[in-house]
Amino acid sequence: MDSRELIRLAIDAMAKAYTPYSGFKVGAALLTDDGQVYIGCNIENAAYGPTVCAERVAFFTAVRDGKRKFTKIAVVGGMGGELSSFTYPCGVCRQVMREFCDDDFVLVVSDGKDIKEHTLADILPYSFSPKDLK
Ligand code: THU
Repeated sequence: MDSRELIRLAIDAMAKAYTPYSGFKVGAALLTDDGQVYIGCNIENAAYGPTVCAERVAFFTAVRDGKRKFTKIAVVGGMGGELSSFTYPCGVCRQVMREFCDDDFVLVVSDGKDIKEHTLADILPYSFSPKDLK
């Protein structure tokens, strides 16, 4: 799937974010190797710690459905759902990507105007992966 189309789906997902504490809404659209898209939004919690990021909601929903292979994820975010700069996945979400994705997995981000693409190898170098436990 085209990266711009995946970004559009991430923007749609962002509208579902539950963010009464930070007001910062994030949407993610994750593409499986068989062409399906799983969306995620961030879901916050009054106890703060249980908050989950949009990226992990997308990954865990896909894994729940038996998906294990992924090619691309689009991520967008902004205060009140307004895109003004590029939003990048947090460290925890990058490590979750590492669990299921190869080095060539693609991250697409957008500030609402431009699009940038990076590989997982770019955003998580020198990582600890399932291969280390073989
Ligand atoms: N957030 C995400 O959903 N994904 C990220 O990669 C960065 C942060 C969310 C968590 C929290 O609800 C809000 O953004 C502010 O940190």
